[in-house]
Amino acid sequence: MGVSDEEKARSTARFLATILIGGVVVGVSLLGLLSKLHFPFPSSLSSSNDKKKKKGCVRVYMDGCFDMMHYGHCNALRQARALGDQLVVGVVSDAEIIANKGPPVTPLKERMIMVNGVKWVDEVIPDAPYAITEDFMKKLFDEYNIDFIIHGDDPCVLPDGTDAYALAKKAGRYKQIKRTEGVSSTDIVGRMLLCVRERPISDSHNHSSLQRQFSHGHSQKFEDGGSGSGTRVSHFLPTSRRIVQFSNGK
Ligand code: CTP
Repeated sequence: MGVSDEEKARSTARFLATILIGGVVVGVSLLGLLSKLHFPFPSSLSSSNDKKKKKGCVRVYMDGCFDMMHYGHCNALRQARALGDQLVVGVVSDAEIIANKGPPVTPLKERMIMVNGVKWVDEVIPDAPYAITEDFMKKLFDEYNIDFIIHGDDPCVLPDGTDAYALAKKAGRYKQIKRTEGVSSTDIVGRMLLCVRERPISDSHNHSSLQRQFSHGHSQKFEDGGSGSGTRVSHFLPTSRRIVQFSNGK
C-alpha cells in the first residue's frame, strides 16, 4: 500500500471513529432528554432511592393543587425548600380538587410537569389528598421519610369547616410559610374571563357575574371602563380567607 493509500485508510478510519463517537454522544444526550421529558406517570417523579433519607437530611413536604402554576406557587416552593434539605411535593388529584374547590383548569399530569420543573422541587408525588389524613400522614413519615408538612399561612378549610392540616399540627410536624399576596389560580381564571370581551349580548349577564365571582380586583377596573393599560392591583382573597374575614375571628 502506497503512502497515499495509507493516508486514505487513516482518514477513513478517523472519519468512521468521529461518526461513531458523535453517534454515541448524541444518543446519550437524547436518552437523557427523553428520560427528563417522559415522566413515569402515575407513579412518583423520582427513583425509589430519592426516598431514602440521608443522615441528617431534613425532608419537607408541601402539597397543593398548583393549577395554572404562578409565581405565588414558586415562592411557596422556594420557602418550603428553605425549611429543609429536600422538598417533596404532593400534587392533589383532580377528583379531590373537584370535591373540595371545583374543577381545575389543568389536569394532574400537566400540574405535575409544572411542579417538577421548579428548581426547588426534589420529588413529586401524584394524587395527593386535599387534606392530610391519618393514613397519608403515616405514609409520608414512614415511606417518604418526611420530617415536616408545610403550607402557606392562608387557612385551608375543608367543606365541613375543619382544618386540612389539623393532624399534622397535632403531631407537631407542621410548619408554615408566608403566602404571596395578590395572586392565586382562581384570580388568574378571573383575569382570563376578563379577556373575553367578544360575546353574545344574551350572555352578558352571566359573563359579568362570572367575572365578579372570580376576580374582584379586576372587575373594578372593568366597571370603571379601564383602558387596559397601567398596573392592575388584585384584591382577590381566596375563599377560605374570606370565610375567616366574616367569621368574627373564630
Ligand atoms: N400559595 C402561596 N401563595 C399564593 C398561592 C398559593 O404561598 N399566592 C401556596 C399555598 O399556601 C399552598 C401552595 O402554594 O401551600 C399550593 O397552593 P394551591 O393549593 O395551588 O392554592 P392557590 O394557588 O391559592 O389556588 P386557589 O386559587 O384555587 O385557591
